[in-house]
Amino acid sequence: MMIKRLVVKNWRNFRHIDVRLRERQFIVGANASGKSNLLDIFRFLRDVVKAEGGGLQKAVKDRGGVSKIRNLAARQDPEIAIEIHLADNAESPDAWHYAIGIRQEPRGYRQTYLTYERLWKDGQQILDRPDADDEVDRDRLTQTFLEQINVNADFRELVRFFQAITYLHLVPQLLRFADSIQGRVVEDDPFGQGFLERIARVTERTRRARLQKIEQALQIAVPQLEQLEFIRDEITGRPHLQALYSHWRPNAGLQREDQFSDGTLRLMGLLWSLLDTDSVLLLEEPELSLNAGIVSQLAPFISRMQRSRRPQVFVSTHSDALLTEQGIDGREVLLLAPAREGTEAKIASDIDAVRTLLASGFTVGEAVLPRTRPEHAEQLSLLE
Ligand SMILES: Nc1ncnc2c1ncn2[C@@H]1O[C@H](COP(=O)(O)OP(=O)(O)OP(=O)(O)O)[C@@H](O)[C@H]1O
Ligand SMILES: [Mg+2]
Repeated sequence: MMIKRLVVKNWRNFRHIDVRLRERQFIVGANASGKSNLLDIFRFLRDVVKAEGGGLQKAVKDRGGVSKIRNLAARQDPEIAIEIHLADNAESPDAWHYAIGIRQEPRGYRQTYLTYERLWKDGQQILDRPDADDEVDRDRLTQTFLEQINVNADFRELVRFFQAITYLHLVPQLLRFADSIQGRVVEDDPFGQGFLERIARVTERTRRARLQKIEQALQIAVPQLEQLEFIRDEITGRPHLQALYSHWRPNAGLQREDQFSDGTLRLMGLLWSLLDTDSVLLLEEPELSLNAGIVSQLAPFISRMQRSRRPQVFVSTHSDALLTEQGIDGREVLLLAPAREGTEAKIASDIDAVRTLLASGFTVGEAVLPRTRPEHAEQLSLLE
Protein backbone atom coordinates (compact mmCIF):
# COMPACT_ATOMS: atom_id res chain seq x y z
CA MET A 1 0.00 0.00 0.00
CA MET A 2 1.14 3.55 -0.60
CA ILE A 3 0.08 7.14 -0.10
CA LYS A 4 -1.24 8.15 -3.48
CA ARG A 5 -2.49 11.62 -2.86
CA LEU A 6 -2.07 14.19 -0.12
CA VAL A 7 -4.27 17.21 0.43
CA VAL A 8 -3.39 19.58 3.24
CA LYS A 9 -4.62 22.94 4.46
CA ASN A 10 -2.86 25.33 6.82
CA TRP A 11 -0.05 22.98 7.82
CA ARG A 12 2.90 25.09 8.94
CA ASN A 13 4.30 27.00 5.99
CA PHE A 14 1.77 25.50 3.56
CA ARG A 15 -1.57 27.17 2.94
CA HIS A 16 -2.71 24.43 0.65
CA ILE A 17 -1.19 21.32 -0.89
CA ASP A 18 -2.85 18.88 -3.24
CA VAL A 19 -0.41 16.47 -4.85
CA ARG A 20 -0.32 12.99 -6.29
CA LEU A 21 2.55 10.94 -5.00
CA ARG A 22 4.65 8.08 -6.35
CA GLU A 23 6.29 5.08 -4.71
CA ARG A 24 9.55 6.96 -4.72
CA GLN A 25 9.11 10.66 -4.12
CA PHE A 26 11.87 13.24 -3.96
CA ILE A 27 11.14 16.53 -2.25
CA VAL A 28 13.25 19.49 -3.26
CA GLY A 29 13.23 23.15 -2.35
CA ALA A 30 15.37 25.91 -0.90
CA ASN A 31 16.30 25.98 2.78
CA ALA A 32 13.21 26.57 4.90
CA SER A 33 10.88 25.85 1.98
CA GLY A 34 9.12 23.18 4.05
CA LYS A 35 10.65 19.82 3.13
CA SER A 36 10.89 18.69 6.75
CA ASN A 37 7.48 20.19 7.51
CA LEU A 38 5.99 18.16 4.71
CA LEU A 39 7.56 14.95 6.01
CA ASP A 40 6.20 15.90 9.42
CA ILE A 41 2.62 15.46 8.15
CA PHE A 42 3.27 11.74 7.86
CA ARG A 43 5.03 11.65 11.21
CA PHE A 44 2.04 13.40 12.71
CA LEU A 45 -0.31 10.69 11.45
CA ARG A 46 2.00 8.10 12.90
CA ASP A 47 2.05 9.92 16.24
CA VAL A 48 -1.75 9.99 16.32
CA VAL A 49 -1.99 6.20 16.04
CA LYS A 50 1.11 5.30 18.03
CA ALA A 51 0.33 2.30 20.23
CA GLU A 52 2.08 3.71 23.26
CA GLY A 53 1.69 7.33 24.21
CA GLY A 54 0.05 8.31 20.95
CA GLY A 55 -3.13 10.19 20.22
CA LEU A 56 -4.23 13.44 18.67
CA GLN A 57 -3.68 15.53 21.81
CA LYS A 58 -0.13 14.31 22.28
CA ALA A 59 0.75 14.63 18.60
CA VAL A 60 -0.39 18.26 18.62
CA LYS A 61 1.20 19.03 21.98
CA ASP A 62 4.56 17.58 20.91
CA ARG A 63 4.52 20.10 18.08
CA GLY A 64 3.89 23.02 20.37
CA GLY A 65 0.10 23.17 19.96
CA VAL A 66 -2.28 24.10 17.18
CA SER A 67 -0.99 27.66 17.06
CA LYS A 68 2.51 26.44 16.12
CA ILE A 69 1.28 24.01 13.50
CA ARG A 70 -1.31 26.23 11.86
CA ASN A 71 -0.10 28.34 8.99
CA LEU A 72 0.74 31.81 10.23
CA ALA A 73 -1.19 33.38 7.37
CA ALA A 74 -4.36 31.43 8.22
CA ARG A 75 -6.29 34.32 9.71
CA GLN A 76 -9.75 33.82 8.25
CA ASP A 77 -9.79 30.05 8.26
CA PRO A 78 -8.16 28.68 11.39
CA GLU A 79 -8.69 25.01 10.61
CA ILE A 80 -5.86 22.61 9.87
CA ALA A 81 -6.90 19.85 7.47
CA ILE A 82 -5.21 16.65 6.34
CA GLU A 83 -6.62 14.35 3.71
CA ILE A 84 -4.80 11.27 2.59
CA HIS A 85 -5.54 8.71 -0.10
CA LEU A 86 -4.02 5.24 -0.01
CA ALA A 87 -3.94 2.60 -2.70
CA ASP A 88 -2.03 -0.49 -3.76
CA ASN A 89 -0.11 1.53 -6.29
CA ALA A 90 -0.12 4.97 -7.86
CA GLU A 91 -2.57 3.94 -10.60
CA SER A 92 -5.05 1.85 -8.64
CA PRO A 93 -8.27 3.19 -7.08
CA ASP A 94 -8.30 4.32 -3.47
CA ALA A 95 -8.27 1.55 -0.91
CA TRP A 96 -8.54 4.10 1.91
CA HIS A 97 -9.30 7.77 2.10
CA TYR A 98 -8.98 9.48 5.45
CA ALA A 99 -9.64 13.13 6.29
CA ILE A 100 -9.50 15.18 9.48
CA GLY A 101 -9.94 18.80 10.39
CA ILE A 102 -8.31 20.17 13.54
CA ARG A 103 -8.99 23.30 15.53
CA GLN A 104 -8.36 24.74 18.90
CA GLU A 105 -11.14 25.87 21.23
CA PRO A 106 -11.17 29.65 21.00
CA ARG A 107 -11.55 30.01 24.78
CA GLY A 108 -11.74 27.99 27.99
CA TYR A 109 -9.30 25.10 28.11
CA ARG A 110 -8.29 25.79 24.51
CA GLN A 111 -8.38 22.10 23.81
CA THR A 112 -7.54 20.68 20.42
CA TYR A 113 -10.58 19.11 18.81
CA LEU A 114 -11.66 17.56 15.55
CA THR A 115 -13.94 19.55 13.31
CA TYR A 116 -14.55 16.33 11.36
CA GLU A 117 -13.14 12.88 10.87
CA ARG A 118 -14.10 10.93 7.77
CA LEU A 119 -13.00 7.61 6.40
CA TRP A 120 -13.77 5.75 3.19
CA LYS A 121 -12.82 2.15 2.47
CA ASP A 122 -12.89 1.08 -1.18
CA GLY A 123 -14.99 4.13 -1.99
CA GLN A 124 -17.56 3.50 0.77
CA GLN A 125 -17.73 5.98 3.60
CA ILE A 126 -17.48 4.13 6.90
CA LEU A 127 -16.89 7.01 9.27
CA ASP A 128 -18.49 10.43 9.38
CA ARG A 129 -17.92 12.49 12.47
CA PRO A 130 -19.19 14.44 14.32
CA ASP A 131 -21.80 11.71 14.74
CA ALA A 132 -24.84 11.72 17.01
CA ASP A 133 -22.76 10.69 20.04
CA ASP A 134 -20.24 13.44 19.38
CA GLU A 135 -23.03 15.99 19.33
CA VAL A 136 -24.11 14.89 22.81
CA ASP A 137 -20.60 14.65 24.22
CA ARG A 138 -18.28 17.12 22.49
CA ASP A 139 -15.26 15.86 24.46
CA ARG A 140 -15.28 12.82 22.22
CA LEU A 141 -13.96 15.08 19.48
CA THR A 142 -10.65 15.42 21.28
CA GLN A 143 -9.75 11.94 20.05
CA THR A 144 -9.69 10.40 16.60
CA PHE A 145 -11.31 7.00 16.09
CA LEU A 146 -8.04 5.91 14.55
CA GLU A 147 -6.29 6.03 17.90
CA GLN A 148 -8.99 4.10 19.80
CA ILE A 149 -8.44 0.38 19.81
CA ASN A 150 -12.06 -0.37 20.83
CA VAL A 151 -13.53 1.34 17.78
CA ASN A 152 -10.87 0.95 15.10
CA ALA A 153 -11.27 -2.78 14.37
CA ASP A 154 -12.72 -2.10 10.91
CA PHE A 155 -9.77 -0.03 9.84
CA ARG A 156 -6.91 -1.62 11.72
CA GLU A 157 -5.06 -2.13 8.43
CA LEU A 158 -4.88 1.62 7.98
CA VAL A 159 -3.84 2.12 11.60
CA ARG A 160 -1.02 -0.40 11.22
CA PHE A 161 0.12 1.29 8.04
CA PHE A 162 0.37 4.65 9.81
CA GLN A 163 2.04 3.06 12.83
CA ALA A 164 4.79 1.67 10.63
CA ILE A 165 5.76 5.04 9.12
CA THR A 166 9.47 5.50 9.76
CA TYR A 167 11.51 8.68 9.73
CA LEU A 168 15.27 8.69 9.55
CA HIS A 169 17.71 11.51 9.91
CA LEU A 170 20.64 9.66 11.40
CA VAL A 171 23.09 11.90 13.21
CA PRO A 172 26.36 9.99 13.52
CA GLN A 173 27.55 11.85 16.61
CA LEU A 174 24.41 10.92 18.53
CA LEU A 175 24.88 7.28 17.68
CA ARG A 176 28.54 7.31 18.61
CA PHE A 177 27.87 8.88 21.97
CA ALA A 178 24.69 6.91 22.60
CA ASP A 179 26.20 5.43 25.77
CA SER A 180 27.12 8.70 27.37
CA ILE A 181 23.79 10.40 26.62
CA GLN A 182 21.60 7.45 27.43
CA GLY A 183 18.16 8.08 28.77
CA ARG A 184 17.82 11.14 26.58
CA VAL A 185 16.87 9.50 23.36
CA VAL A 186 14.33 11.60 21.48
CA GLU A 187 10.98 9.82 21.28
CA ASP A 188 10.77 7.48 18.28
CA ASP A 189 14.44 7.97 17.79
CA PRO A 190 14.44 10.01 14.60
CA PHE A 191 18.18 10.59 14.85
CA GLY A 192 19.22 6.98 15.12
CA GLN A 193 20.48 7.03 18.72
CA GLY A 194 18.85 3.67 19.31
CA PHE A 195 19.96 2.25 15.98
CA LEU A 196 21.96 -0.53 17.63
CA GLU A 197 19.00 -1.53 19.80
CA ARG A 198 16.85 -1.69 16.71
CA ILE A 199 19.33 -4.09 15.15
CA ALA A 200 19.41 -6.08 18.38
CA ARG A 201 15.62 -6.42 18.47
CA VAL A 202 15.11 -8.46 15.30
CA THR A 203 15.65 -12.22 15.20
CA GLU A 204 19.13 -13.55 14.69
CA ARG A 205 18.23 -14.85 11.26
CA THR A 206 16.79 -11.58 10.00
CA ARG A 207 19.70 -9.66 11.42
CA ARG A 208 22.23 -11.89 9.74
CA ALA A 209 20.51 -11.64 6.37
CA ARG A 210 20.23 -7.86 6.56
CA LEU A 211 23.76 -7.29 7.77
CA GLN A 212 25.03 -9.41 4.94
CA LYS A 213 23.26 -7.18 2.45
CA ILE A 214 24.53 -4.08 4.21
CA GLU A 215 28.04 -5.49 4.22
CA GLN A 216 27.88 -6.00 0.46
CA ALA A 217 26.69 -2.46 -0.10
CA LEU A 218 29.25 -1.02 2.28
CA GLN A 219 32.06 -2.81 0.53
CA ILE A 220 31.22 -0.80 -2.56
CA ALA A 221 31.20 2.53 -0.73
CA VAL A 222 34.05 1.71 1.66
CA PRO A 223 36.20 -0.84 -0.19
CA GLN A 224 38.59 -1.40 2.70
CA LEU A 225 35.76 -2.61 4.91
CA GLU A 226 35.85 -6.38 4.81
CA GLN A 227 33.44 -7.76 7.30
CA LEU A 228 30.57 -6.43 9.31
CA GLU A 229 29.12 -8.18 12.32
CA PHE A 230 26.84 -7.67 15.24
CA ILE A 231 28.26 -8.35 18.68
CA ARG A 232 27.38 -7.81 22.30
CA ASP A 233 29.87 -6.36 24.69
CA GLU A 234 31.00 -9.15 27.02
CA ILE A 235 30.83 -6.97 30.11
CA THR A 236 27.97 -4.55 29.55
CA GLY A 237 25.89 -6.73 27.22
CA ARG A 238 25.30 -3.70 24.99
CA PRO A 239 24.88 -4.26 21.26
CA HIS A 240 27.60 -3.12 18.89
CA LEU A 241 28.57 -3.30 15.27
CA GLN A 242 32.06 -4.37 14.47
CA ALA A 243 33.87 -4.18 11.16
CA LEU A 244 37.14 -5.55 9.93
CA TYR A 245 39.22 -3.17 7.85
CA SER A 246 41.76 -4.63 5.45
CA HIS A 247 44.30 -1.83 5.54
CA TRP A 248 45.36 -2.34 9.15
CA ARG A 249 47.53 -5.11 10.62
CA PRO A 250 45.68 -8.40 11.07
CA ASN A 251 43.80 -8.35 14.39
CA ALA A 252 44.28 -4.62 14.68
CA GLY A 253 41.75 -3.93 11.95
CA LEU A 254 38.65 -4.53 14.07
CA GLN A 255 36.68 -1.40 14.82
CA ARG A 256 33.41 -0.66 16.54
CA GLU A 257 30.72 1.78 15.44
CA ASP A 258 32.17 4.64 17.48
CA GLN A 259 35.10 4.59 15.08
CA PHE A 260 33.13 4.26 11.86
CA SER A 261 33.08 7.30 9.61
CA ASP A 262 30.00 9.53 9.38
CA GLY A 263 29.24 8.30 5.87
CA THR A 264 29.60 4.65 6.89
CA LEU A 265 27.13 5.13 9.74
CA ARG A 266 24.64 7.07 7.67
CA LEU A 267 24.72 4.53 4.87
CA MET A 268 24.20 1.72 7.35
CA GLY A 269 21.21 3.50 8.87
CA LEU A 270 19.72 4.11 5.46
CA LEU A 271 20.18 0.52 4.33
CA TRP A 272 18.79 -0.90 7.54
CA SER A 273 15.69 1.29 7.36
CA LEU A 274 15.06 0.30 3.76
CA LEU A 275 15.20 -3.34 4.79
CA ASP A 276 13.16 -2.77 7.93
CA THR A 277 10.12 -0.90 6.64
CA ASP A 278 7.27 -1.88 4.39
CA SER A 279 5.02 1.07 5.01
CA VAL A 280 6.51 4.51 4.42
CA LEU A 281 10.11 5.51 4.89
CA LEU A 282 10.93 9.19 5.26
CA LEU A 283 14.56 9.90 4.50
CA GLU A 284 15.90 13.30 5.41
CA GLU A 285 18.76 14.40 3.14
CA PRO A 286 20.35 10.96 2.68
CA GLU A 287 23.18 12.55 0.69
CA LEU A 288 24.84 13.97 3.81
CA SER A 289 28.41 12.75 4.35
CA LEU A 290 28.31 10.50 1.31
CA ASN A 291 30.58 10.56 -1.69
CA ALA A 292 28.89 11.93 -4.83
CA GLY A 293 29.53 8.66 -6.65
CA ILE A 294 27.52 6.80 -4.04
CA VAL A 295 24.85 9.49 -3.85
CA SER A 296 24.29 9.23 -7.61
CA GLN A 297 23.40 5.56 -7.11
CA LEU A 298 20.94 6.05 -4.26
CA ALA A 299 17.87 6.66 -6.43
CA PRO A 300 18.24 3.48 -8.52
CA PHE A 301 19.21 1.62 -5.37
CA ILE A 302 15.99 2.65 -3.64
CA SER A 303 14.00 1.47 -6.67
CA ARG A 304 15.70 -1.87 -6.62
CA MET A 305 15.04 -2.35 -2.93
CA GLN A 306 11.38 -1.49 -3.54
CA ARG A 307 11.05 -4.43 -5.87
CA SER A 308 11.16 -6.91 -3.03
CA ARG A 309 9.86 -5.02 0.02
CA ARG A 310 8.02 -2.05 -1.41
CA PRO A 311 8.13 0.61 1.23
CA GLN A 312 7.11 3.93 -0.22
CA VAL A 313 10.12 6.20 0.14
CA PHE A 314 10.08 9.97 0.53
CA VAL A 315 13.45 11.63 0.18
CA SER A 316 14.13 15.26 1.02
CA THR A 317 17.24 16.43 -0.76
CA HIS A 318 19.42 19.32 -1.91
CA SER A 319 21.63 17.08 -3.98
CA ASP A 320 22.33 17.36 -7.69
CA ALA A 321 24.08 14.00 -7.65
CA LEU A 322 21.07 12.27 -6.16
CA LEU A 323 18.86 13.52 -8.97
CA THR A 324 21.15 12.72 -11.89
CA GLU A 325 19.69 9.32 -12.61
CA GLN A 326 17.95 9.27 -16.00
CA GLY A 327 15.35 6.89 -14.64
CA ILE A 328 13.80 9.46 -12.31
CA ASP A 329 10.44 10.53 -13.64
CA GLY A 330 9.23 14.14 -13.37
CA ARG A 331 6.27 12.86 -11.36
CA GLU A 332 8.68 11.60 -8.74
CA VAL A 333 9.88 15.07 -7.84
CA LEU A 334 7.91 17.42 -5.66
CA LEU A 335 9.10 21.00 -5.87
CA LEU A 336 8.48 23.36 -2.97
CA ALA A 337 8.46 27.01 -3.91
CA PRO A 338 8.08 29.61 -1.16
CA ALA A 339 5.59 32.32 -2.03
CA ARG A 340 4.19 35.25 -0.05
CA GLU A 341 1.43 33.51 1.88
CA GLY A 342 3.03 30.11 2.09
CA THR A 343 4.98 27.54 0.15
CA GLU A 344 3.49 26.06 -3.00
CA ALA A 345 4.02 22.38 -3.67
CA LYS A 346 4.14 21.31 -7.29
CA ILE A 347 4.93 18.06 -9.01
CA ALA A 348 7.86 18.78 -11.36
CA SER A 349 6.24 17.24 -14.43
CA ASP A 350 3.24 19.55 -13.99
CA ILE A 351 5.46 22.53 -14.73
CA ASP A 352 5.58 23.12 -18.50
CA ALA A 353 9.15 24.41 -18.62
CA VAL A 354 10.41 21.43 -16.61
CA ARG A 355 8.58 18.99 -18.84
CA THR A 356 10.20 20.53 -21.89
CA LEU A 357 13.67 20.21 -20.36
CA LEU A 358 13.05 16.60 -19.35
CA ALA A 359 11.82 15.77 -22.83
CA SER A 360 15.03 17.12 -24.31
CA GLY A 361 17.17 14.89 -22.13
CA PHE A 362 17.93 16.92 -19.03
CA THR A 363 18.04 15.00 -15.76
CA VAL A 364 15.49 16.01 -13.13
CA GLY A 365 18.33 17.48 -11.11
CA GLU A 366 19.28 19.76 -13.98
CA ALA A 367 15.71 20.66 -14.79
CA VAL A 368 14.42 21.27 -11.28
CA LEU A 369 17.20 22.18 -8.86
CA PRO A 370 18.02 25.56 -10.45
CA ARG A 371 14.47 26.53 -9.47
CA THR A 372 15.24 25.92 -5.81
CA ARG A 373 18.27 28.19 -5.73
CA PRO A 374 17.82 31.46 -3.82
CA GLU A 375 17.69 34.34 -6.26
CA HIS A 376 20.64 36.16 -4.72
CA ALA A 377 22.72 33.23 -3.52
CA GLU A 378 25.94 34.73 -4.92
CA GLN A 379 25.68 37.68 -2.53
CA LEU A 380 26.65 35.36 0.29
CA SER A 381 30.25 35.36 -0.89
CA LEU A 382 30.27 39.16 -1.09
CA LEU A 383 29.40 39.68 2.56
CA GLU A 384 32.14 41.24 4.62
N1 LIG B 1 2.99 27.57 11.50
C1 LIG B 1 3.83 28.03 10.56
N2 LIG B 1 3.41 28.94 9.66
C2 LIG B 1 4.24 29.41 8.71
N3 LIG B 1 5.52 29.01 8.56
C3 LIG B 1 5.98 28.10 9.43
C4 LIG B 1 5.17 27.54 10.45
N4 LIG B 1 5.90 26.65 11.15
C5 LIG B 1 7.13 26.65 10.59
N5 LIG B 1 7.18 27.50 9.55
C6 LIG B 1 8.33 27.83 8.69
O1 LIG B 1 8.77 26.69 8.00
C7 LIG B 1 10.16 26.85 7.74
C8 LIG B 1 10.93 25.58 8.01
O2 LIG B 1 10.64 24.65 7.10
P1 LIG B 1 11.43 23.28 7.05
O3 LIG B 1 12.20 23.02 8.26
O4 LIG B 1 10.45 22.26 6.65
O5 LIG B 1 12.43 23.61 5.86
P2 LIG B 1 13.29 22.63 4.98
O6 LIG B 1 12.82 22.76 3.57
O7 LIG B 1 13.33 21.29 5.59
O8 LIG B 1 14.70 23.36 5.07
P3 LIG B 1 16.18 22.75 5.14
O9 LIG B 1 16.55 22.43 3.74
O10 LIG B 1 16.96 23.91 5.64
O11 LIG B 1 16.15 21.59 6.06
C9 LIG B 1 10.69 27.89 8.66
O12 LIG B 1 11.16 28.97 7.91
C10 LIG B 1 9.52 28.26 9.53
O13 LIG B 1 9.47 29.62 9.75
MG1 LIG C 1 14.78 20.22 6.57
